[in-house]
Amino acid sequence: MEEPKKALVLYYSRTGNCRAVAQAIGETLQCPMQEIKDLKNRAGFWGFISGMIDIRKKPITEIAPKTVDLSPYDRIYLGSPIWGMRFAPAITTVLNTFDFKSKKVVLFAVATGKFKQAQLEAYGKSLSEKGAQVAGTFVLKTRKKTSAQLLQEAKAVLKTSLIKP
Ligand SMILES: Cc1cc2nc3c(=O)[nH]c(=O)nc-3n(C[C@H](O)[C@H](O)[C@H](O)COP(=O)(O)O)c2cc1C
Repeated sequence: MEEPKKALVLYYSRTGNCRAVAQAIGETLQCPMQEIKDLKNRAGFWGFISGMIDIRKKPITEIAPKTVDLSPYDRIYLGSPIWGMRFAPAITTVLNTFDFKSKKVVLFAVATGKFKQAQLEAYGKSLSEKGAQVAGTFVLKTRKKTSAQLLQEAKAVLKTSLIKP
């Protein structure tokens, strides 16, 4: 008998917030997580500055792994921090280069404050146009929250929303 398809959490995180949310999803759904690394050094103050510049001028980057075999999965939870009102370059690169056709995708984002759900839905629309089925979107605000608080908050969102194991 064919194995049932499963979920995968794909995410990028510079300072750990998106990782905490990814972990909440992984623990809730008992599914694997795959972190996407940005090969450009984004650490510290200069990492922040280069992030601000790149997000305007060149919002894509070298990532590792370069690709992920999505064939064992039918649902992908794709998460990014928001940089300059957009997904971070690592996740924009994933969106540009990975094939989400026929996958159910839940998009999630973490932001300190200024980011609108509508913007996330715009990403969803562009994924739908490429053949994905966008099953939901959610944004968590991270200002003054610890990873443990975010993890709990994300688990609460998962309980109340569309996201079914
Ligand atoms: C280069 C850069 C730009 C950012 N721009 C925004 C922004 O436009 N709006 C916002 O709410 N947060 C912005 N942030 C804050 C991050 O989205 C926020 O701190 C997030 O929780 C970081 O997630 P992480 O810990 O997974 O990297 C920015 C952060 C960086 C590094």
